[in-house]
Order: sequence, then C-alpha cells, then structure tokens
Amino acid sequence: MGEKVHSYSHANFSEMPFHKDSPFGFIFLDLGISSAHFDYFSRGFSFRYDEELDMRMDASKGKSAADVLAKLPEDALVKIFFDYGEEKFARRIARQIVETRKENPITKTPELVKICEKNYPPKYKAKGHAQKHPATRVFQALRIYVNRELEHLEKAVEFFPHELCVGGRFAVITFHSLEDRLVKRAFRSLSQIAQVDPHAKSNFIQGNFREVYSGGITPSVEEIKQNPRARSARLRVLERIR
Ligand SMILES: C[S@@+](CC[C@H](N)C(=O)[O-])C[C@H]1O[C@@H](n2cnc3c(N)ncnc32)[C@H](O)[C@@H]1O
Repeated sequence: MGEKVHSYSHANFSEMPFHKDSPFGFIFLDLGISSAHFDYFSRGFSFRYDEELDMRMDASKGKSAADVLAKLPEDALVKIFFDYGEEKFARRIARQIVETRKENPITKTPELVKICEKNYPPKYKAKGHAQKHPATRVFQALRIYVNRELEHLEKAVEFFPHELCVGGRFAVITFHSLEDRLVKRAFRSLSQIAQVDPHAKSNFIQGNFREVYSGGITPSVEEIKQNPRARSARLRVLERIR
C-alpha cells in the first residue's frame, strides 16, 4: 500500500495551496472559526469574553476589527453590518460607533457590546430579531469582513470542483445562511446547465457534476444536544461525474 503523504500549508484555501497535487478524490471545507478561536485565542471572536477586538483568523496579517471600527466611515460600517450580519439596526449602531470613537477608540469587546445593546429598541429585546444577543450579528459581520470569508469561499467553490477526479467529491460545511446560499448556488450552477434548446422537455441538462444530497444535510437533535455549536451547520456535497 502506497505510503500516506500528509502535507500542510499555512495559506488561505482560496490560494489553492495544493493545486500541484490535483486531481483529488475528496476535498473537504469545514468553514468558519474553530472552537479554539473562541476558547483560547482571545482575539475577540465572541461577545461573551472581555478581549481585544482583533477577530483575525490569521493574526499575522490584515487589519483587525478595532482598525476597521476606527477607520471606516459610517456608511461603510452600515454596509458591513447589513450585508454580512443582516443587522436591522446597522445605521444606529454604526452612527454610535462613529460618535464614540471621537472620544475613545473602540478596542475591547465589551465596548462594542455596549453600543449594540444600547441601540436595540426595548421591544426588539423581547422578541424576534433579538432572540439572538444584540451583538451577535455585528460580531458575525465584522468577522466575515475582517477575514474576507465570503470572497475566499466564492473562489474556493469556483475552483475546487475542477480539482476533482471523476467520481471525486467536494464537501463543504457552512454555518450561516450567507455561506450556504453561496455554496448552494455554485453547486446548482455546476450540476444543472441551462438548456439552450427551446423545444427541450427540461430547462436544464445535467452538468459534469451532481449534488449528492439535495438540500444538504443538517445535524440531528441529538448532535445539537451534544454540540450546540453545530446547530446552524449544513453539509453540502458535490460529485464530479465526468
Ligand atoms: C470550523 S474550523 C475547522 C475545525 C476542524 N475541522 C476541527 O475539527 O478541528 C475552521 C478552520 O478553518 C480555518 N479557515 C477559515 N477560513 C479559511 C480560509 N479561507 N483559508 C484557510 N483556513 C481557513 C479557520 O481558521 C479554522 O481554523
């Protein structure tokens, strides 16, 4: 049996660090941040701990969340909170960040949490939008922006399928709707090619790929009990058929 070769690369997966070894039988992306980022790295990923507002997955490069909050104009912050966090109160929160930073820079998680809580109308704290902690969406949005997560994922779902051998599979675990929407669309466009023949029975023809589990797979109630962090996970798998 050929010797198993393990190679590691400290790189962004969108840089395709293993392209030279393709084609692959299996490519797996487990997205987002690891529990270690929350529990050990003290980089301000969670609004529950009193930490520096860094949020970089790779702290050796790029701008931290505190840099972003210190420098970006109000409209840019609104766009980040809305596009990457679907935060309904993005404008109020961004306006207060711009006001607050004139006095003191916002560098610690509790300072940002306070601004989010203050800008949540009481009635929302009781229902609907605030079932999550008022800071959840802003923290998610900042993290996605600081790490360019959706841009890197977009590149990966565009290139990785073509790194597969025939019969090879590309699996992705997403943790929120923005990621999942992106993967779902990419897999759909690779497995269903628009039909050009107006007389054809179906609007689509089968592409060189197929989705293995329509709609993806989500965790069982039992798994969520054991690992609550898996509650929003969805696994999607694409197979190369030719
Ligand atoms: C959910 S964790 C993976 C956990 C791992 N499967 C485990 O069981 O321990 C995701 C990891 O991917 C890394 N990551 C996220 N986006 C990345 C990217 N674009 N390129 C390289 N690594 C990335 C994160 O830093 C994090 O360590």
